[in-house]
Amino acid sequence: MGQTLTEKVLDDHLVDGELETGEEIGIEIDQVLTQDTTGTMVWLQFEAMGLDEVQTEIAAQYCDHQTYQFDFKNTDDHRFLRSAAGTYGAYFSRPGNGICHNVHRENFAAPGKTLLGSDSHTPTPGGLGQLAIGAGGIDVTVAMGGAPYYIEMPEIVNVRLEGELPEWATAKDVILELLRRLSVKGGVGKILEYTGPGVESLTAPERMTITNMGTELGATSSIFPTDEQTKDYLERVNRADDFEELQPDEDAEYDDEIVVDLSDLEPLIAQPSMPDNVVPVREVAGQDVDQVIVGSCTNGGYEDILPAAKMLEGREVNPTTEMIVAPGSKQASEMLAREGWVAEMMAAGVNFSEATCGACIGIGHVPSSDSVSLRTFNRNFEGRSGIEDDNVFLCSPEVAAAAAIKGEIIDPRDLADELGDLEDPGIELPDEYDGSKTDLITPDEAPDDELVKGPNIGDVPLKDQLDADIEGEALLKMEDNITTDHIIPATQDILMYRSNIEKLSEFTLSRVDDTFAERAKNADGGFLVAGENYGQGSSREHAAMCPMYLGIEAVLAQSFARIHRANLFNFGIVPLTIDEDTYEDIDQGDEIEIVDDVYDAVTSGQEEFTVRVNGEEYTATLDASERERDILAAGGKLAWTKEQAEESGS
Ligand code: F3S
Repeated sequence: MGQTLTEKVLDDHLVDGELETGEEIGIEIDQVLTQDTTGTMVWLQFEAMGLDEVQTEIAAQYCDHQTYQFDFKNTDDHRFLRSAAGTYGAYFSRPGNGICHNVHRENFAAPGKTLLGSDSHTPTPGGLGQLAIGAGGIDVTVAMGGAPYYIEMPEIVNVRLEGELPEWATAKDVILELLRRLSVKGGVGKILEYTGPGVESLTAPERMTITNMGTELGATSSIFPTDEQTKDYLERVNRADDFEELQPDEDAEYDDEIVVDLSDLEPLIAQPSMPDNVVPVREVAGQDVDQVIVGSCTNGGYEDILPAAKMLEGREVNPTTEMIVAPGSKQASEMLAREGWVAEMMAAGVNFSEATCGACIGIGHVPSSDSVSLRTFNRNFEGRSGIEDDNVFLCSPEVAAAAAIKGEIIDPRDLADELGDLEDPGIELPDEYDGSKTDLITPDEAPDDELVKGPNIGDVPLKDQLDADIEGEALLKMEDNITTDHIIPATQDILMYRSNIEKLSEFTLSRVDDTFAERAKNADGGFLVAGENYGQGSSREHAAMCPMYLGIEAVLAQSFARIHRANLFNFGIVPLTIDEDTYEDIDQGDEIEIVDDVYDAVTSGQEEFTVRVNGEEYTATLDASERERDILAAGGKLAWTKEQAEESGS
């Protein structure tokens, strides 16, 4: 039987296990990336493990999430990150140089290579045939130290693209259509592999818009085959030598198939406040729009901003609307500026932001109360914009620019009819992506060779070996789809403590219940209870680290999001799955006891645990590999990795 493209790349990197769905496999990692939110802990853990030097072909530290220098804590973090990159041999991308995924795709992403990143949108370069996976920071630390990355072999789904996109439909509409059909849980445990005749009509940046937002489907990764489009993009970024032809075998078998006829697509929009709440733009047309933002790691490339710029050429942003362009990389800004597009947009009423995540996580450009904001981003979770009860819609740059011109949500086809002279700008790649490289410091040029730790850089929290007895209160009962933004918000006032866990933990789950952190600390142990898809969203390991710091020993949930589940193991918190009836029977404040000797049960491979709630007994399941059980028993991945190193005498 032939192989899928995913299997071919995995096979090339396989160091442990067999490529059978559900089996744990270990793969060699060629490249790693980390960003400023997750990077400080990555390097503190790298230091705590006593590692000397990065072992992967490429390791890159980006500063993108919080680049505005509101406070010395941010600059302290960036200073520490630069020193860590220099000390251990990683590339360092300075604050303002751009968002990790954009800068990585411009400089390093390559077909057939593996990439592990401590950011959930790491799968972005799947559009170039790279197998890229988002993970918790400590997984990246360990991979950077040269160890394999372990993962349960996902199902491989064939997303077969047919036809070609009609006028005004874009790559963003392809992924919004998949979200509409499959929901934010539809990709869990899966790698989406794109095939079919529709693939060749999409440029590499369009493909990367799609693979970027595979994360919103919960997918482990998304990947496209490579072809003339891939080659063309790599030539334009001056890395033609990185091209490698990669296709699945003709007789490859997939676990599932989804067919999308591109020619059936039309402009779509995700309504507040979930990326899968998708409808045609025409269904929500007419609503006043206060703010429009084009940018982020999803649609912040040169070729994403250019269509919006062309639509605005000779026109103006409606006086009732504010429009901001937040480029994904400084290179995109530089090129658009050189070609005169920045001036053109400014003249039309657009404000330009530095290349940063910023508004995507509520840092800057917070919408006004009770207003509509249209963004080309990938997420619109409630409150993520920096204001609770926000109304954030997600759409393509074309739909965003149409709304900025009209001052209300409008299908660009209808705006074109109304204006008479508005044409679909289409997609246009520059002859050469030729921004300067000044802000990307290579390991050879690094000015630092020792760590610089300001007062905001704390210690890595450690946990003892797993307890035999786990009992305590159900400290918080939560609903379905709790995000890592709920657990540890990424807004500026909170994010600045990302390197100081003692302080950061005070904000744990504050968006759900602001008494939680205090109660958890006083309770000295206890449980979290949640519905389906607990921990969806970012790769933020702080969402496991802070509950661990507060003494949470187990989470009982109907299901877990992939990266957060791994992070719970990595920080020694037992993730137990419960059924819906058990979930319904548990109330916040109930006393819970795991009847089994937890340490023995975890280490002996026991799957079913008896959980006593107010005297009633229920069954909870631990679905974990032997390696995950060992990590849990040791008290987390840092302790486990140290144990391993001691045992091997290294
Ligand atoms: Fe940054 Fe938002 Fe992407 S936080 S990495 S722009 S999802």
